[in-house]
Amino acid sequence: MRVLGIETSCDETGIAIYDSEAGLIAHTVYSQTDIHRQYGGVVPELASRDHIQKTLPLIQQVLKEAKMTKDKLDGIAYTAGPGLIGALLVGASIAKSLAWGLGIPSIGIHHMEGHLLAPMLEANPPDFPFIALLVSGGHTQLMDVQDIGHYHLLGESLDDAAGEAFDKTAKLLGLPYPGGPCLAELAKKGTPVRFQFPRPMTDRPGLDFSFSGLKTFALNTINKHEMDEQTKADIAYAFQEAVVDTLVMKCKRALLQTGNTRLVLAGGVSANLCLRQRMQLLAKNSHCEVYYPRLEFCTDNGAMIAYVGCLRLQKGQEENLTIRAKARWPLVELN
Ligand code: KG4
Ligand code: ZN
Repeated sequence: MRVLGIETSCDETGIAIYDSEAGLIAHTVYSQTDIHRQYGGVVPELASRDHIQKTLPLIQQVLKEAKMTKDKLDGIAYTAGPGLIGALLVGASIAKSLAWGLGIPSIGIHHMEGHLLAPMLEANPPDFPFIALLVSGGHTQLMDVQDIGHYHLLGESLDDAAGEAFDKTAKLLGLPYPGGPCLAELAKKGTPVRFQFPRPMTDRPGLDFSFSGLKTFALNTINKHEMDEQTKADIAYAFQEAVVDTLVMKCKRALLQTGNTRLVLAGGVSANLCLRQRMQLLAKNSHCEVYYPRLEFCTDNGAMIAYVGCLRLQKGQEENLTIRAKARWPLVELN
């Protein structure tokens, strides 16, 4: 079965074709970073308009890369939520129209299920069950994953998501959008011991997170110091350490609590090299295995949507022609 995946939930247009026999056969991601940078963040209306411009040409491009014509597709998967409603509607409308025109089934996919299962696209995928740390711009969640579609929420952020905290702190440091990767880059030049940020909610039991205080801590630190390049880098370093340390501590707790020995990292922040290294260390010290997608599949992409779409369509889970788009949609509703 060959499934076209369309991801348009935020500021990336991701298109891919997944073949149930051959695996991923073509994929591409177009990022709108240059459009939104001048505004310091994503402008939803501009995002929707750009998805309208890019989606069909990128589908053509991916079909060409896969050396196939659209009549060889067996199904179409699109991101139905959560995300920016206008952006979601673009992908959903195109997917539904194309599926109707071709007489093939279509299915709306949960964006976070896409992230969660993205490590399955790699050569050494995890077996079920596993613990997943989902860290993106809008979500920070620890999930107990028993199987596809069996998700139990262990803990989540009570305020800002980890990626959101990266982006907001980057902005305070005067870094361009997108903040997370820029802050991580700057942190490489930071000196380790100069600033010490708190590790929120690690001194009490439970698996929830809170990251908004770190941004305030960063703001107070910035206000107290002369902002030269080294000081900025030192703050970036201390902030990143605090986020990574907190995430590692909670993952360790989740593994102990559940007795699970497999940990999956997914979502945009899992592209953070410091986080990946520290999770590797945790896995080594606690005799666990850690899995994460290749860097380009940590952030938004069409491959994860095509893959999950293929799994669900193979199970016969197609939809009618109603265009589905949900700005808010808890992952556990899939159970
Ligand atoms: O999964 P994603 O591409 O989109 C959402 O579903 O939100 O995640 C985007 C988030 C942004 O907050 C971005 O700053 C963050 O992931 N991010 C990073 C890194 N790369 C992306 N944060 C820290 N370090 C990185 N290397
Ligand atoms: Zn995402």
